[in-house]
Amino acid sequence: CSDDDDPVAGFKWNAVAKSTADALTVPAGYSARVLYRLGDPIDAATPTSANNGTDTGTSFAARAGDHHDGMHYFGLGASGAYDATNSTRGLLVMNHENITQLLLHPAGATTPRPADQVIKEMNCHGVSVVEVTRTGSTWTYTRGGNYNRRITTNTEMILSGPAGGSNQLKTKFSTNGTRTRGTVNNCANGYTPWGTYLTCEENWAFYFKRAAGDNANRSAAEVTALNRNGITQGAAGNYGWTTVTPGDAADTNFARWDATKVGTSTDGTDDFRNGPNTFGWIVEIDPFNATSVPKKRTAMGRFAHEGCFVAPPVVGQPLVFYSGDDSRGEYCYKFVSTALWSAADATGGMAAGDKYLDAGKNFVCKFNADGTGSWIELTLGTNGITSASTVYPFADAADVLINLRLAADVAGATKMDRPEWSAINPKNGDVYFTMTNNSVRGSVAQPMDAANPRYYTDNRGTTVQRGNNNGHIVRLAPSGGNHAATTFTWDIYLFAAQATADTAANNADYQANVNLSGLDDTNDMSSVDGCWFSQATPGLLWIQTDDGAYTDVTNCMMLAALPGNVGDGGAVTVANKAVPQGAGGATVDVTVTTRMGKKPEPTQLRRFLVGPKGCEITGIAETPDGRTIFVNIQHPGENTTAAQLTAGTPESVWPDGSGARPRSATVAITRDDGGKIAVD
Ligand code: FEO
Ligand code: CA
Ligand code: CA
Ligand code: CA
Repeated sequence: CSDDDDPVAGFKWNAVAKSTADALTVPAGYSARVLYRLGDPIDAATPTSANNGTDTGTSFAARAGDHHDGMHYFGLGASGAYDATNSTRGLLVMNHENITQLLLHPAGATTPRPADQVIKEMNCHGVSVVEVTRTGSTWTYTRGGNYNRRITTNTEMILSGPAGGSNQLKTKFSTNGTRTRGTVNNCANGYTPWGTYLTCEENWAFYFKRAAGDNANRSAAEVTALNRNGITQGAAGNYGWTTVTPGDAADTNFARWDATKVGTSTDGTDDFRNGPNTFGWIVEIDPFNATSVPKKRTAMGRFAHEGCFVAPPVVGQPLVFYSGDDSRGEYCYKFVSTALWSAADATGGMAAGDKYLDAGKNFVCKFNADGTGSWIELTLGTNGITSASTVYPFADAADVLINLRLAADVAGATKMDRPEWSAINPKNGDVYFTMTNNSVRGSVAQPMDAANPRYYTDNRGTTVQRGNNNGHIVRLAPSGGNHAATTFTWDIYLFAAQATADTAANNADYQANVNLSGLDDTNDMSSVDGCWFSQATPGLLWIQTDDGAYTDVTNCMMLAALPGNVGDGGAVTVANKAVPQGAGGATVDVTVTTRMGKKPEPTQLRRFLVGPKGCEITGIAETPDGRTIFVNIQHPGENTTAAQLTAGTPESVWPDGSGARPRSATVAITRDDGGKIAVD
């Protein structure tokens, strides 16, 4: 093969070893430099962060937020417009998913919650847009850059598309249901063919309080919808944002996180009972216009959106976006636009978003045991999604979008092991979904099936861990290579596992059901999460981990992979010696037949990076020339205790070193010889 046809035939760089050291490690010949850390000021007026909890809450409206996550690099042209070829100057846009609350304040959070602390926590969520420039081999962000922007839980946004203005989106803040404040728990991301950014609202539900007894004031349908999305009565709401003392009854900026029905209106315009309905969406942001108003694209449905990744656009065909719903037993979805792609819209900005993202159809994924599958349409009036449904009485098209999980329940989708990121292989069109893990797989409610075939009793250490602990990666080949098609074939590309899983010492209950992909010390992993195909190096897949089951052996990591095609392996029987939860501890034999891809050769799957203690590796972007990648190191030291903080001995001191508090940060990785990342 020529270099152009196949830039990566097999990795030649040496794998990074597993490590529990408090360090970021990349292969020999590569350098990783810290670019943008929690608290870094984005304007000239805001002082450098003290990184000791004393920076004011309001100052964080102009500082990097916490828990850097999904991210994209947009080349910036000399004219100030999107330039998809610029690899030395661009806009780096990233999510700030969540916070490590203890580390944000001088001595942790205090109760009752002071306004400044809560303002800081709210400002630490959302999105950053920062201008970045390469000089030599070093990247810096431009403090005071014209495009720099923080989007937070306070940024006003338009509720666009078919559900905008519906009764269920009306609040005291927007009595016509067309606006809301902010975005929260932005996990993975996406981007459009017209140079805008997509941020995805994942675990938004848990930020809402709902008082005990609220169900009594709600209709049966409302209670069904609230419960299905995890907003149960009696929930306190993350971080106690509603409990700020003294509060702000006039502004309701804190009270809006209380979804309890307290008003007397019939349409919810006198309280925030509908507040949760204004979260759970895909949000489009124009990074090239710092005053643009983000739009929540309601046509794409509401659930715990992990990410939103577009298939390569084809002129004259609809655009297709894939999105996982990350919760145990949830589903994989896709959105198919009504409008057909015109290359002229590649410079269309948010107007192109209005055209392609405000009208379309949603589909949910059903995996059949024989390696085939189908996408089931989730439109009112199809597949049992009607007002007569006994699951939930769908009132209208907006109601279906707001309660897309319930529509998917009715349609009979396959319950998956926590769908995280999705990715599309530019070489062959295969679509990848990572399944991070599922502690209740193997239960009566979620028995093993062909697409989620593995139960694992991990006897390492003292804790017996049950369920699918290490996760796996499912991939689909759309029929005819057409992403809008409603049928596909599928297999399991990879089963994550520890290399030594199938030994008696590690797995006394059963010794041949775990490391099915034959991983070794150079590429074993657990809890796959982030995944993304390089655009500069077709066929190169990045895999990132968010592990809870293997951190006694190694910190979280990123691996490079060169996968083949759906169907290049064959049928495999997964033998599980399972302990069904709630079944009294007796083991039972369960075998599941599934389709598994060809086992990766060690030259085709290799560990590229290991992070510091307590972190998750998530978020990846690259320059168009493939010579720089950006990676986010999320929450290093997140297991730090209050006593450790007081003693000045946090779990991690990355990236600033001894004496410092750990903080989330973006790193830029380059090859010392200037070559393309991971190639040769
Ligand atoms: Fe935010 Fe599903 O990870
Ligand atoms: Ca994730
Ligand atoms: Ca995760
Ligand atoms: Ca995390």
